[in-house]
Amino acid sequence: MADTRPGRSCPRHYRYARAVFARAADLKAQSLYVVGGLYGNRFALEAVLAMVRREGAALVFNGDFNWFNVDPEGFRALNETVLRHPALRGNVETELAGEDAGGGCGCGYPEWVGDAEVERSNRILERLRETARGFPDLRVRLGSLPMHLVAEIAGLRIAIVHGDAESLAGWQFSQEALSARPERARALLAGSGVDVFACTHTCLPVMQEFDAPRGKALIVNNGAAGMPNFRGTRFGLATRIAGTPSAQALYGARLGAAVVEAVPLRYDHEAWLAEFDRAWPAGSPAALSYRKRIASGPGYEVEQAVRTGARKGAFSRAA
Ligand SMILES: [Fe+2]
Repeated sequence: MADTRPGRSCPRHYRYARAVFARAADLKAQSLYVVGGLYGNRFALEAVLAMVRREGAALVFNGDFNWFNVDPEGFRALNETVLRHPALRGNVETELAGEDAGGGCGCGYPEWVGDAEVERSNRILERLRETARGFPDLRVRLGSLPMHLVAEIAGLRIAIVHGDAESLAGWQFSQEALSARPERARALLAGSGVDVFACTHTCLPVMQEFDAPRGKALIVNNGAAGMPNFRGTRFGLATRIAGTPSAQALYGARLGAAVVEAVPLRYDHEAWLAEFDRAWPAGSPAALSYRKRIASGPGYEVEQAVRTGARKGAFSRAA
């Protein structure tokens, strides 16, 4: 039976058919950065905008660009900047735009995330929604963002989503589900007719290769752009898809004529931590759930994220 508690449920309006990806590309580019899970980190936003500018790349924000940014002026500035670019709504933006207390944070948390953490996420969302109420125009814009986008890069068809192939808050493309149920992800890839799913939402990065009808296919989850993703690190990650490799990439894989890479977003760690502490002091729900990770990364290693094997074209650099 489906779990309908706030923060656990996956609302019906979050869902879409995988057939939606069988369409002409919405965007074509030589290189593209997909930035998910910025979580209100304006310093990470500055870092990625500088990289994109230097390279002349396209940029898509695939949701959850809001989370810790409860300061009204910070909320306004970050959203106005992000919304100058193509963007998808994540569960955070969707729940911010609405007043549905029953959805909680809209995360659709699976069973391996504890009740206390889900409860804290619901409280973070409530506080952020309080800030968002001061900006009704922004709320309308966030609520009207699309849930998916199709890009074409170097001949590859890329589905950009927040969660997975069927839901904005789906967890099928989490590193946990890709370990436990790779056959499910393979079926979703085969049914969608794309070469790459670029996703986020589940907070830990993964790049996993599959055999698919069109040859190799990849699921690439950038984890978080605005928080560290690996033990002992202080940088976020973005997904880069391009015809030529980046010298910055931490790891990546070749797919046809393209490279799909995880690129570090090296933001001002001290400034971000100080800003976070001001907004979310010790004992607050965000401090309890996230401060340790922001300070020194989660208990997760690069080697766990890279699942492209020792195949030709795969590479990884030490963090
Ligand atoms: Fe999310």
